[in-house]
Amino acid sequence: MTTRTLEHASDTGWREVRLDVLKRIEDLPSLSSVVAEFLALSRREYFTAKDFESVLSKDQALVARLLKVANSGLYGRPRHIRSIPEAVVLVGLDQMKKIVFAVSTEGLTRLRLKNYAYEPSRGYWMHSTAIGLAARALLGVLPVKPMHAEEGFVAGLLHDVGKLIIDDYLDPIPGKRPVTLAEEAAAVGMDHAELAEYILRQWRLPETIVESIRDHHQAPDAPAIAPGARVLQLAEVVVDTWHVGHGEPIDLSTDFDPAPHGALFARVGLPESRLPQLIWDIRQNLTGIDNLYREN
Ligand SMILES: [Fe+2]
Ligand SMILES: [Fe+2]
Repeated sequence: MTTRTLEHASDTGWREVRLDVLKRIEDLPSLSSVVAEFLALSRREYFTAKDFESVLSKDQALVARLLKVANSGLYGRPRHIRSIPEAVVLVGLDQMKKIVFAVSTEGLTRLRLKNYAYEPSRGYWMHSTAIGLAARALLGVLPVKPMHAEEGFVAGLLHDVGKLIIDDYLDPIPGKRPVTLAEEAAAVGMDHAELAEYILRQWRLPETIVESIRDHHQAPDAPAIAPGARVLQLAEVVVDTWHVGHGEPIDLSTDFDPAPHGALFARVGLPESRLPQLIWDIRQNLTGIDNLYREN
């Protein structure tokens, strides 16, 4: 890896790296713009199958894929569903939300990382999905929620998205030890959290998601940290108990030890009494995660 420092950002070499990074961001399979609208809809207390359809119908390719998946038998028996409202009735709104996210991120989730310390074939996406599921479960029990549960899921799923770009600029690391933020900055001039901010703004995701991802490597007591970042941090310490994404198969039997994370729990505002139920919920959510993103 050629070490570069920010002071040399005006160097021709740096300019080339910057341009190259921007080009690669453009080339990323982007999220359907429907996702941002869908999140706005999910924030409403009440919405109908028709509302759901009118948001989704802005992306007909997405609708076609959704119907194909809803009919595939992956979410119950194979059926003959011809419309989104019909799918909502037959498959259920919760399942449909899952299908929306799965289908909207299909292109992205085909990407793999070479140089980060994840299980090579699917580890990165298993880790990201696990953080999304854990963040969603955590938001479900928090008395004061810095973001909506569905936003928490998307934030978790995309929290490390900057790595998808930086990976190409890292030299192969023997033994695939974890890559530090400083090494990322030395490679492209910013770390994966800072880079994610650019990417997610281009995808027009809600500010709560962008900020929580931008700050997810800040100290939990940093004065200006976005509160949603602490949700991601807590999701990360819980999920790391089971080494999700770092090897297979995943053993969920290890007990989570909250002792080293008391300060983080307090800052997030999770009453200690809710912890056992939360850990149980997260375990339930992660059951079967080994089966995601298998190439068929
Ligand atoms: Fe992560
Ligand atoms: Fe990260």
